[in-house]
Amino acid sequence: MAGKVLVLGSGGTVGSKLVRALLEKGERVKAGTRGAAPAEDAEAVALDYQDCSTYGHALEGVDRIFVMAPGGYLDPVALLTPVIRAAAARGIKNVLMTVLGVDADDDQPYRQVELFLEKTGAQFVILRPSTFADNFHSHWLEGIRHGVIALPAADSKTSFIDTRDIAECAAAALTSDAYNGGAFNLTGPEALSYAQAATILSRAIGKPIAYEPVDAETFIGMLTAAGVPDAYAQYVAGTFRSVREGRFAQVTGDVERLTGRPPRRLDTYAEDNAAALAA
Ligand SMILES: NC(=O)c1ccc[n+]([C@@H]2O[C@H](COP(=O)([O-])OP(=O)(O)OC[C@H]3O[C@@H](n4cnc5c(N)ncnc54)[C@H](OP(=O)(O)O)[C@@H]3O)[C@@H](O)[C@H]2O)c1
Repeated sequence: MAGKVLVLGSGGTVGSKLVRALLEKGERVKAGTRGAAPAEDAEAVALDYQDCSTYGHALEGVDRIFVMAPGGYLDPVALLTPVIRAAAARGIKNVLMTVLGVDADDDQPYRQVELFLEKTGAQFVILRPSTFADNFHSHWLEGIRHGVIALPAADSKTSFIDTRDIAECAAAALTSDAYNGGAFNLTGPEALSYAQAATILSRAIGKPIAYEPVDAETFIGMLTAAGVPDAYAQYVAGTFRSVREGRFAQVTGDVERLTGRPPRRLDTYAEDNAAALAA
C-alpha cells in the first residue's frame, strides 16, 4: 500500500499505541490532533471531527484511516459520519473502532455509524472491543488509590482487553486487505468479575484493592462529584446496564485471528502497568 495512514485520536489510549505499531511496521503515519504534540515520529496533522474544513489537508496522501469516537462525546453519529463520508469520497479504506455488542441493535448509535460506513461503498474493517483493561489506570485510578473499585457492575463478568491488543489488531486491519468487509469482536482471553479483577490488580501492585458494587444513582453521584458532566455521567452509567446484562462477558478468538497470537491476560496488563496503577 503506497499511501499514508491517518490515525484519529492519535494521542488517545488506543490511537497512541496504534501510531507506534504502524511506525514499527514501516508505515508513514499522519497523526490527527486538534493541536497537541505528535506521537513518536508521526507527522502531526490538524484535524477536528467537528470542523470539516480541517479534513481536506488531513486526508491528503492518505489511503487508509483509523476512526474512533474519543471519550466524552455523547453522539457518535454526529461526530463521526462527516469524516467517514469525506474519507469514503476519496476512496480511503476505513478501520472503525466501535464497541462490543453494538450489532445486537441497529438503533444503537455506534451501530448506526457502522451501517453508515458500510453503505459508503469504501473498503472497511470494523473493530468492536470489549471493556478496556486500561480503564483501571485511567478512569478508575482514583478509586484504586483509595483501595476501592466502586462500579455498578453487580457480579457480572467482563472480558477485559489490553489496549495494546486493540492497537495491534487495528494495525493488522490497516496493513492487510485480508480482513476487508469484516467485523471483529475483540476481547481478552477470559471473562472475569470485577472482584476477580481487583484481586489480580492487588497482587500486581502489592496493595489491597476491593471491588464494591454500587447502584447506578450512587455511581452517577460519584462521577459528577469528580467533575464529570451530568449527561456524560448518565451515559457512562447506562453502559453499565449492558455490563450487568453480560454483553461484555463474551470471549472470542478475534484478536488471535487478526494478530496471530492470543490476547494478553489481565495479569499481564496489571504487571506491565503496575507503576501507573500504583501512582
Ligand atoms: N473505555 C472502554 O472500556 C471502551 C470499551 C469499548 C470501546 N470503547 C470506545 O473507545 C473509544 C475511546 O477510545 P480511546 O480511549 O482510545 O480514546 P481517547 O483516549 O478518549 O481519545 C482521545 C483523543 O481523541 C482526540 N480528540 C478528542 N476530541 C477530538 C475532536 N473533536 N477531533 C479530533 N480529535 C479529538 C484527542 O486528541 P487531541 O487532544 O490531540 O485533539 C485525544 O488524543 C470510544 O469510542 C469508546 O466508546 C471504549
